[in-house]
Amino acid sequence: MKLAVVGAAGMVGSRVVAEALLRGHDVTAVFRNQLPEIPGVRAVRGDATDRELMEGLLSGVGGLVAATRPRPGDEAAAGPATKALLDAAHATRTRIIVVGGAGPLHSPNGGLVIDDDRYVPRHIRPIAAASVHQLEVCRAHSADWVYVSPPALLEPGERTGTYRRGSDVLLTGPSRISAEDLAVAILDELAEPGSDRHFTVAR
Ligand SMILES: NC(=O)c1ccc[n+]([C@@H]2O[C@H](COP(=O)([O-])OP(=O)(O)OC[C@H]3O[C@@H](n4cnc5c(N)ncnc54)[C@H](OP(=O)(O)O)[C@@H]3O)[C@@H](O)[C@H]2O)c1
Repeated sequence: MKLAVVGAAGMVGSRVVAEALLRGHDVTAVFRNQLPEIPGVRAVRGDATDRELMEGLLSGVGGLVAATRPRPGDEAAAGPATKALLDAAHATRTRIIVVGGAGPLHSPNGGLVIDDDRYVPRHIRPIAAASVHQLEVCRAHSADWVYVSPPALLEPGERTGTYRRGSDVLLTGPSRISAEDLAVAILDELAEPGSDRHFTVAR
C-alpha cells in the first residue's frame, strides 16, 4: 500500500515510518525541517497546513497518518493542522488516521481523562486540551477519519508486536505503550479497519 506520514521526524511518526517499511509499504514521509535520508522512503519537506502540497502528495495514496504535535506554547496550532490534513484527505478520498492524545478518552474513574489529575497533571493540560479540540475537529469533518488515543504513558521502547485495543475508555493496568507498538496498532488499523472511529491501545 502507498502511505503518507506527516510529522515523520517525531516520536510516533518515525516509528510509523519504520513499521510501514517493515511491512513493505511504499512510504512518503513529510518533514517540517531537515530531510533525513531513509532508504526506501520518499522524504518531502512541508507543513501540514500547505493544502496544495498535501493534496498533491496524497494522489494514489491508500492511507495518511497524521502524527503532528505542536511545540509547547503553540498548542492552538493543533486544530488548524488537523483540519488542513482532514481537508486534504477528504479532497483526495484518502483514509486518515489522526494520532491524538489520551485527553479525550473517558476515564475509568468517570469524566474525561483530561479532567482526571491522576493521568493529566497541570503541566500537560495544554497539550491534553489541544487533543480534545483535535477530536472535536475530526468529529465535525466529513473526511474518512479515525482518531487513535495513546494510553496515559507513551514513550520510545520495545517493539513487542502485541497490544490491547479498546474504544474510547482509557485502558489501565498498565496505561502505557511504546511508540513502536503504537505504530504496530496504527498499521494494523490501516490494514484492517476496526469499527470504532475513536480507539485506544495499551501494552
Ligand atoms: N499519552 C499521550 O496522550 C501522548 C503522549 C505523547 C504524544 N501524544 C500525541 O501523539 C501525537 C504525536 O506526538 P509525538 O510525541 O510523536 O510528537 P513529536 O515527537 O513532537 O513530533 C511531532 C512532529 O510533528 C511535526 N509537526 C508539528 N506541526 C507540524 C505541521 N503543521 N506540519 C508538519 N509537521 C508538523 C513536528 O515538527 P517540528 O519538529 O518542526 O516541530 C515534529 O517533527 C501528538 O498528537 C501528541 O499529542 C500523546
